[in-house]
Amino acid sequence: MQTSAALNRIQPSATLAMTSRVLDLKRQGIDVIGLGAGEPDFDTPDFVKEAAIEAIRKGATKYTNVDGTAELKAAIVAKFARENGLTYAENQISVNSGGKHTLFNAFCATIDAGDEVIVPAPYWVSYPDVVEFAGGKPVFISAGAEQGYKIKPEQLEAAITAKTKWVVLNSPSNPTGAAYSADELRALGQVLERHPHVLIYADDMYEHILYDGFEFATIAQVCPSLIDRTLTANGVSKAYAMTGWRIGYAGGPQWLIKAMGKLQSQSTSNPCSISQAASVAALNGDQSFLKDRAAAFQKRRDLVVGMLNEIEGMNCPTPEGAFYVYPEFSALIGKTTPKGVVIDTDETMIGYLLDEAKVAAVHGAAFGFSPALRISYATSESILTEACSRIQQACKALR
Ligand SMILES: Cc1ncc(COP(=O)(O)O)c(C=O)c1O
Repeated sequence: MQTSAALNRIQPSATLAMTSRVLDLKRQGIDVIGLGAGEPDFDTPDFVKEAAIEAIRKGATKYTNVDGTAELKAAIVAKFARENGLTYAENQISVNSGGKHTLFNAFCATIDAGDEVIVPAPYWVSYPDVVEFAGGKPVFISAGAEQGYKIKPEQLEAAITAKTKWVVLNSPSNPTGAAYSADELRALGQVLERHPHVLIYADDMYEHILYDGFEFATIAQVCPSLIDRTLTANGVSKAYAMTGWRIGYAGGPQWLIKAMGKLQSQSTSNPCSISQAASVAALNGDQSFLKDRAAAFQKRRDLVVGMLNEIEGMNCPTPEGAFYVYPEFSALIGKTTPKGVVIDTDETMIGYLLDEAKVAAVHGAAFGFSPALRISYATSESILTEACSRIQQACKALR
C-alpha cells in the first residue's frame, strides 16, 4: 500500500514535531525548557470562555453555515473596518478551522500544477508545504538579518514570472518577528500593481503583537487598488490566546471566498459552533487587554535579545513584533562541542542545545534560512532567563 503523491510531497510540521519531542522528554522526568511552541502562554480571556459556555447552554451546538455564522461574519466585517480601514461585505468573509485551514483552503482552491507561489524566507513552515500539496511550486526570496528579514521591492520584481499565482506577505512574521511598515508595504504594492495576474496572501495573524509603538499596516489598506486580489487572513489564535479553539478567518474577493467555501463544504464543514460564538465575543469585546499582553511580550523580547547578543558569534536582531527571535550564528559553524561533535548545521546545534543545555528551539532550516534558530519567548521571564543562560553556557563551551 502506498500513500499519495500529494502527501509524499509534504513534511510533518517541524515546530509541532519539536513540541511533541519536548513533551516526551518531560514525561521521562527530564528538566527541558521548551522554546519551540508557537502559542502565547496567556490564557483565553474569561469573557471569551463565558461566551462559549453560554453558547453551549443556549444549544449553539449544531451545524452552522459552512464558512461561518452570520454573527461571526458581522464581527469580522466590523473588525476589518475598525482596525484596518478595510471594507468587506459579509459574503467576502470566510471562517475556517484555524489560520492554517484558511491557507489550505485558499491555496488548494486556486493552485494548479506548476503554478508558482512566492514565499519570502525565513517563512512560516506551512507555506511551502501547502503549496506543494496543492501541486504548486514555492519560489523563495531570501531576506537575511542584514535586511531586517524583509524582502525588497527589487527582489519581489525579480521573482515574479508569468506563472506566479500568489505572493505571501506575513507581517509580523513567524519565525523572525519582522514587520513591514506602511511605506515598505506600499513599495512592495507598487511592484504588485504592475503584475495584475498575481494574488496576494496577507497573513496578519500576529497583528496585535507589536512593540515600541510600531503601527500595524496591511497591504490592501495601504494599496487599495490591490484589494480585489488580496486575501487578508487573520484569526483569533495568537491575539486572544485561542490556539486550541481553531478559528481563522479571511476577507477577500467574492469568487475566492466562494471557492474556499466549496472546498470546506466537502472537507471539514463549519468550524466548531462553540468556538465561533467565543470568537464573536473576542472580536466584539473590550480590546484593551491586548496592549497589556503586548507590553509583557516586549519585556521578554528585550530580555532574550539582550542575553542572546551577549553570546560571541550570535547575532539576534530586535524584532518589531510576534513572540519569536531569530538569531543567526554563522560564526559558530565549524566549532566543536566538548564531546567532539562538529556544529556543521543548525540542526546539529539544536540537537546539542537539547542534549546538553536541555533547551528546545527550532532549527532555521525548517524555516528556509540557515544557520539560525527560532526561539519562542511566550513564557515567563524567569524561565527565559534560565533558558538563555543555559544557551550562553553551551555556546561558551564550544571550541
Ligand atoms: C504566520 C502564521 N499564520 C497562521 C498561523 C496559523 O494559526 P492557527 O492555525 O493556529 O490559527 C500561524 C501559526 O503558527 C502562523 O504562525
